[in-house]
Amino acid sequence: TDPALIRNFCIIAHIDHGKSTLADRMLQLTGVVEQRQMRAQYLDRMDIERERGITIKSQAVRLPWAPTKDEGGEPATHILNMIDTPGHVDFTYEVSRSLAACEGCVLLVDAAQGIEAQTLANLYLAMEHDLTIIPVLNKIDLPAAQPEKFAAELAHLIGCDPSDVLKVSAKTGEGVAELLDRVVKLVPAPVGVYDAPARAMIFDSVYDAYRGVVTYVKVVDGTLSRRERIRMMSTGAAHELLEIGTNSPEMTPADGLSVGEVGYLITGVKDVRQSKVGDTITQVSGGAQEPLGGYKDPKPMVFSGLYPLDGSDYPELREALDKLQLNDAALVYEPETSAALGFGFRVGFLGLLHLEVIRERLEREFNLDLIATAPNVVYRVEMEDGTEHTVTNPSEFPVGKIDTVHEPVVRGTILAPSEFIGAIMELCQNRRGVLLGMDYLSEDRVEIRYTLPLAEVVFDFFDQLKSKTRGYASLDYEPTGEQTSELVKVDILLHGDKVDAFSAITHKDKAYAYGVRLVAKLRELIPRQNFEVPIQAAIGSRVIARETVRAIRKDVLAKCYGGDISRKRKLLEKQKEGKKRMKMVGSVEVPQDAFIAVLSSD
Ligand code: GTP
Repeated sequence: TDPALIRNFCIIAHIDHGKSTLADRMLQLTGVVEQRQMRAQYLDRMDIERERGITIKSQAVRLPWAPTKDEGGEPATHILNMIDTPGHVDFTYEVSRSLAACEGCVLLVDAAQGIEAQTLANLYLAMEHDLTIIPVLNKIDLPAAQPEKFAAELAHLIGCDPSDVLKVSAKTGEGVAELLDRVVKLVPAPVGVYDAPARAMIFDSVYDAYRGVVTYVKVVDGTLSRRERIRMMSTGAAHELLEIGTNSPEMTPADGLSVGEVGYLITGVKDVRQSKVGDTITQVSGGAQEPLGGYKDPKPMVFSGLYPLDGSDYPELREALDKLQLNDAALVYEPETSAALGFGFRVGFLGLLHLEVIRERLEREFNLDLIATAPNVVYRVEMEDGTEHTVTNPSEFPVGKIDTVHEPVVRGTILAPSEFIGAIMELCQNRRGVLLGMDYLSEDRVEIRYTLPLAEVVFDFFDQLKSKTRGYASLDYEPTGEQTSELVKVDILLHGDKVDAFSAITHKDKAYAYGVRLVAKLRELIPRQNFEVPIQAAIGSRVIARETVRAIRKDVLAKCYGGDISRKRKLLEKQKEGKKRMKMVGSVEVPQDAFIAVLSSD
């Protein structure tokens, strides 16, 4: 295809603002999906995505479109490549790669809701990539729509005239043809060097059980052809290009892809880590020397221990993680043992949603019952003797002469109605936040920016924010580096033995509160034993909180008043049964439920 006829664009939208519905309308209108095949949200394939209404993996679809004459576009049939971007904060890097494959984007905003924090974050990303932005209000068919108010807000934000904001209904299809016309007219055609060695950027990579890894690329320079040998520039690994083609929306093989084109390729690799998002592909012979810029290795930001509820499920858990990793280059894990929870894995995630999605998939698709330890971030600890430790598990926080502790920080952006400013600032202040700035988007909506320790954000921050703003606030955050902080490790001891699963790293001013809370909670949950059980919270050897579970005499047979021997046996068996769900921590029996209760609530 002549690059002059290609338009690569994406849709930036908040969850539920109608991106999938709009994509469906575009598929229909351009004739790539026939009416009778149409089902809602054609592009969202994963079940979990459908149910939760979130788009996790991006894809690209090729739409032929001949613009209407009176919109001023040339009437020739153009190729519009719609590149789907993941919507959530955890996937910022993937979003940035999808944006890098585009020349323009549709900023889609619900006409009854206005812009949200995530949309704003992605809009800023799009602006950084110099994309042409087409502002669009959706759902104008809704009675609650306030198109004038939000058109003004959008215009103010991106610096255009309110009359430039297109108003559509993805539901009824109103305005969608005009939108496609506008994409042709306003989004620049891709530019690249035709006679150069090929350079293609990977913006997504998906594992398919039948075909192996399907890699989505945008060709920037030159041509990639079927059957030639290609090289991944970050690793130097070479592969044969078994198949290359476009999605419209099913995979359609082609002889090759050249400048500006977007499509998929298959090399037979079985693991997405061999075909990494952001990497550059070139030919093996006469290939390019310089990769395209912007490649980054995915870096896990949040860790949690995952343990099977039933210890015998451990091999299944390993197998399930192995399978998920085929499709998720950002998922890392290694085996870990916990005195309290047994054998499991320490798993690294990009963020909280990523964690939640993986947990849910393990439980749902692989039928595993899991216990997850409280999520923690990665700390860098410098010792006085000059050595350095990277801590991904609080129980491994070093003892001895610590010089400085570094923790990751994020830049958080919160959008909310202005009546909640006080509540939001209070929350952020409590979470060790530092105010960066505040802007009014319109007279009653405000954007508040804070630097926050990631550790404070992963710990129920979002839930708190929602409850303090009656659900109106939206949040986005991006990692911005690290800071040194006065952090300490709090250990919880049962009868003198450390319960590793409850060790936590907290700011020194919050250590006491954490200790008191956990100790009190455990006291409620741990049944009386034959001896007295002290429950303590300690920093190093200094105890900061203590409760005691009193001893009882446990004599089940006493209830039977002699006599009936079969009844006695039954009782004994029952007691044995009950013990199975107990874990021994040192000399103390703790019901597994207690661990789950402590780990799951806040
Ligand atoms: P994610 O995939 O979760 O990011 O959501 P999305 O942005 O793709 O939203 P989706 O298309 O799933 O739409 C969310 C809801 O809004 C659905 O119930 C749609 O039926 C509804 N919706 C989308 N567009 C319109 C519209 O123009 N008018 C009305 N009334 N409802 C719409």
